[in-house]
Amino acid sequence: MLAAGAGVTQAKHVNRSGAAPGNGLPPTQGRVRLEDKRIINGRADVNQLVPLRYKWAWDKYLCACANHWMPQEVNMARDVALWKDSNGLSEDERRIVKRNLGFFVTADSLAANNIVLGTYRQITAPECRQFLLRQAFEEAIHTHAYQYIVESLGLDEGEIFNAYREIPSIRAKDEFLLPFIEVLTDPAFRTGSEESDRTLLRSLIVFACLMEGLFFYVGFAQILALGRQNKMTGAAEQYQYILRDESLHCNFGIDLINQIKLENPALWTAEFRAGIRQLFAQAVDLEYRYAEDTMPRGVLGLNAAVFKGYLRYIANRRAQQIGLEPLYVDQENPLPWMSEMIDLKKERNFFETRVIEYQSGGALSWD
Ligand SMILES: [Fe+2]
Ligand SMILES: [Fe+2]
Repeated sequence: MLAAGAGVTQAKHVNRSGAAPGNGLPPTQGRVRLEDKRIINGRADVNQLVPLRYKWAWDKYLCACANHWMPQEVNMARDVALWKDSNGLSEDERRIVKRNLGFFVTADSLAANNIVLGTYRQITAPECRQFLLRQAFEEAIHTHAYQYIVESLGLDEGEIFNAYREIPSIRAKDEFLLPFIEVLTDPAFRTGSEESDRTLLRSLIVFACLMEGLFFYVGFAQILALGRQNKMTGAAEQYQYILRDESLHCNFGIDLINQIKLENPALWTAEFRAGIRQLFAQAVDLEYRYAEDTMPRGVLGLNAAVFKGYLRYIANRRAQQIGLEPLYVDQENPLPWMSEMIDLKKERNFFETRVIEYQSGGALSWD
C-alpha cells in the first residue's frame, strides 16, 4: 500500500493524506516527482519525505529541533519567593501575571488542536507536515510551561484555567479565533474547491498572523517587561523560550501562506484581501481591549497606549509579510527590545537560572 498507487484501487475520494485529494485528480503513479508536490491538494504520496521540494520547511523543522527546551529546566524559586512576599509585587503586576496566564494556559491547547485535528490533514507536503508535527509537540511544551508556572506559584488553577470562559477580554479573543479553528477541525472539511481552499487559507492567516503572530506577541511583552525589571525572572525565561518557538511557528505559517498563494493565485482576490484586512483590524481592537483590561493604570513602563502602538506595528508587519499593505501608516516600534528577545540564543542563559542539563548522546541504558 506504500507504493504510490501501483496496482492499488483507490477509494474515490480518499488519498494517503487522510484528506480528500481535493483537486479531484487521482494520486500520481510510481515514484514521487518533485513537480507533483503541492502544499494543498497535492497528488504525490505524503508518506515520502524526499525528494524535498520545500526546503524552507525542512530547515525550520531542523531549527525547531535545535531549540529544544523543557519547562523544568528553569528554576522558579525566585519567582515563588517574590510572589509570596506581600511587598514583592504590586496588585497591578499580579493582575498582569494572572490575566496573562489566563489567556495562555488554554491558547496553546487551542493551537495544538488546530494543528493536529485541523491543519495537518489538509497539508499535502510531507516536509511541511514534519514541521507541523514538531510544532504540535512544542505547543504541548508551552501548555506544560504555563501549567508549571501556575503550579510553582500556587495559583488557583480553577481561576486561571477558566479565565477563557470567565474573563470577558480573554473570552472575546478566543471567540474571535474559534470559528477559524472549528471550521478546520470539522471532520467533513475538505479542500479542493476555490471556496474551501480560501477557507483554509483564511484560517491559516488568522492562526499564524493574528493568533501566534499578534495575540501571543503582545502577551509575551508583558511578562518579558517584568523580567527586564528583575521580577518573575523564571517565568520570563520560560516566556523567552516560548517567544522564540512562536516566532518560528509564525514564520513557518507565513511561508506556508505565501507558498499556497504562489501555487493557487486565483485564491488571492481583492474581495478576499479586503476580508483579511478587516480581520486584522478586528484583532487589533480585541487585543487593545485586552491591554486596557490588564493594565488599567499603566504598569512596568507599559500602558495600553504603548501597547496600542506595539500591536499596530506588529499588525503592519504581519500584513506586509503576506503581501498586504500596512494597516496603520508610519507606526514605529515602541518596544524595540522585543526584537532582541526573539533572537535569544539559549546558550546565552539570559537570567542564569538554568538548572537541568539534558541527557543526550550515550545516556541511554537498556537494562
Ligand atoms: Fe505555543
Ligand atoms: Fe505556536
